[in-house]
Amino acid sequence: MSGFVEKPEPIQVPGLVHLHTGKVRELYRNEAGDLVMVASDRISAYDWVLPTEIPDKGRVLTQLSLWWFDQLADLVPHHVLSTELPAGAPADWEGRTLVCKSLRMAPVECVARGYLTGSGLAEYRESRTVCGLALPEGLVDGSELPGPIFTPATKAAVGEHDENVSYEEVARQVGAETAARLRQATLAAYTRARDIARERGIILADTKFEFGFDGDTLVVADEVLTPDSSRFWPADQWEPGHAQPSYDKQYVRDWLTSAESGWDRAGEQPPPALPQHVVDATRAKYVEAYERLTGLGWS
Ligand SMILES: Nc1ncnc2c1ncn2[C@@H]1O[C@H](COP(=O)(O)OP(=O)(O)OP(=O)(O)O)[C@@H](O)[C@H]1O
Ligand SMILES: [Mg+2]
Repeated sequence: MSGFVEKPEPIQVPGLVHLHTGKVRELYRNEAGDLVMVASDRISAYDWVLPTEIPDKGRVLTQLSLWWFDQLADLVPHHVLSTELPAGAPADWEGRTLVCKSLRMAPVECVARGYLTGSGLAEYRESRTVCGLALPEGLVDGSELPGPIFTPATKAAVGEHDENVSYEEVARQVGAETAARLRQATLAAYTRARDIARERGIILADTKFEFGFDGDTLVVADEVLTPDSSRFWPADQWEPGHAQPSYDKQYVRDWLTSAESGWDRAGEQPPPALPQHVVDATRAKYVEAYERLTGLGWS
């Protein structure tokens, strides 16, 4: 089972056409034809969008994404046009809203991995490969890879997991030249971000980028290098051989799987509401991630 415990009703704003409700974000088109992305405070865990929000999460992730766009700007241009609120938007959208250039999106989730875990680990255990790339023997959950690798996935239909594909498959789908540009940009951006995070005591295990084209210009779109699109691990707790603590969602995961929640992860029931102490601790983690990564204070 998965999905929304309670599907939200999108807010209607005059002049904006609502396009899509994502797990976390609401997507609109404005009258100029630009995209308006609004990051909510929703949080997902174990494939469920939980019934409890984490105050400020959408704002923290939006500001973090903006900061990263800036850090990557000399490697690849980004899609953000403005952070100004559209006329008539609720005040609560302040800080969580990005007006973005509408791009022709590449139909590929551009994942870079520097460490082995998740779907990469599952494939490695079967075949010693990830997305068809051969890896050395002896790697375990959380191992650092010899170097960052491009492990693309194709976007799955709603409710399904993205499917890892080989580089050759991407090249068949988008053409060899575009595939090469996607891989190059993905690895360059990952490497830059990994090094920045490492200096700040955070391991960027892997991350997903989405790119689009503005004419022939490759542009990085969507959100970048947030805890929702990346795995961040506290470097001082890194210990290969088992699942690493998740920087942001560990309290949520631990509580949901504890006896206190009364929830059966394997069962049919949706997860329950989070207690206040889990909400508070999780909010503090998102703020801490922002502050540690950017070196800025969260106000
Ligand atoms: N600049 C852009 N131009 C066109 N499409 C974009 C741009 N930036 C992001 N997108 C697309 O907008 C959508 C954002 O939706 P969102 O991430 O909220 O939901 P989702 O990807 O469908 O679901 P999930 O909640 O699992 O992420 C994605 O389909 C993304 O590819
Ligand atoms: Mg998405």
